[in-house]
Amino acid sequence: MSPLQNLILGLLMCCCVNSSCRVGNEYHQSPSGEDTVYLPPPVYQGEISLEQCLDSRRSHRQYSNKTTSLIKLSQLLWSAQGISDEQSGFRTSPSAGALYPFTVYLQIINVHNLSPGIYIYHTDGHFLELIKPGHFESDIADAALGQNWIKEANIIFFLTADFNVTTSVYGSRGERYVWIEAGHIAQNIYLQATSLSLGSVAIGAYWDQQINEILNLPVNLTCVYMVVVGELLP
Ligand SMILES: Cc1cc2nc3c(=O)[nH]c(=O)nc-3n(C[C@H](O)[C@H](O)[C@H](O)COP(=O)(O)O)c2cc1C
Repeated sequence: MSPLQNLILGLLMCCCVNSSCRVGNEYHQSPSGEDTVYLPPPVYQGEISLEQCLDSRRSHRQYSNKTTSLIKLSQLLWSAQGISDEQSGFRTSPSAGALYPFTVYLQIINVHNLSPGIYIYHTDGHFLELIKPGHFESDIADAALGQNWIKEANIIFFLTADFNVTTSVYGSRGERYVWIEAGHIAQNIYLQATSLSLGSVAIGAYWDQQINEILNLPVNLTCVYMVVVGELLP
C-alpha cells in the first residue's frame, strides 16, 4: 500500500476522540430557555427485530391524523444522528473520517408537547432548538414539486450537510462521501420508523434553494435529502 493510500485509509478509520471532531459541524451555541427541548433518552430494545424491519420497510405516503409521541421522535433522531459512544462522540450513522458533516433540521407538524415549527437537532446533549415557529409544510410541499401528502405527515426531517467539512479533508471525493452518508442516515430513519410502527418516505425531488430558504440555513449548509414521517393508517 502506498503512503498516500495509507494516509487515506488512516483518515477514513480515524479514531477521532478530540472534542473539536466530536462536535462535528455544530455551529449553534447551546441555547437555553423555552426554545430548547430536551429529548427523552434513547431506548436500546425494540419490539420488532432488525430482520423484520428490513422485510417490512416500505415507503408510506398516507398517514393518519394521530399525534406522534416525543419518545418516538427522540428515537428517530437518535437513529439518524444520535451519539452512540459518549467518549469518542461517534454516532449511530457512519461518517467518513468521523467528520460528521450533517445537521438534522425538522419541521414539527404534530408531535406531543412540541409547538409546530422548524427545529435543529443537537446531537451533543440530545435536544431540539426551535428556530422558526409555525407551519411551513405547505411551502415545503410546494418546494417538493407539489407532493401534497407531505402536509399530512407529522415530522419532516431535513438532512443538511456542510460539504466543506468533508471535502476539506478528502478533496472532491469528499462530495461522494457526503451523498453516501445521507443514504445511511435516511435508511436508519426508515428502519427506526418501521420498528416504531410509523410510516416514512425519503424525498429527493425538491428545489434546493426553496428548501434552504424555508429552513433559514446558513450559507455553509444545504439540504441534501428529506425524510417524511407520519402515523400509519389503521
Ligand atoms: C434517492 C431517493 C429519492 C426519492 N425521492 C422520492 C420522492 O421525492 N418522493 C417520493 O414519494 N418517494 C421518493 N423516494 C422513495 C422511492 O419512490 C421508493 O423507495 C421506491 O418506490 C421503492 O419503494 P419502497 O421504499 O417502498 O421499497 C425516493 C427514494 C430514494 C432512494
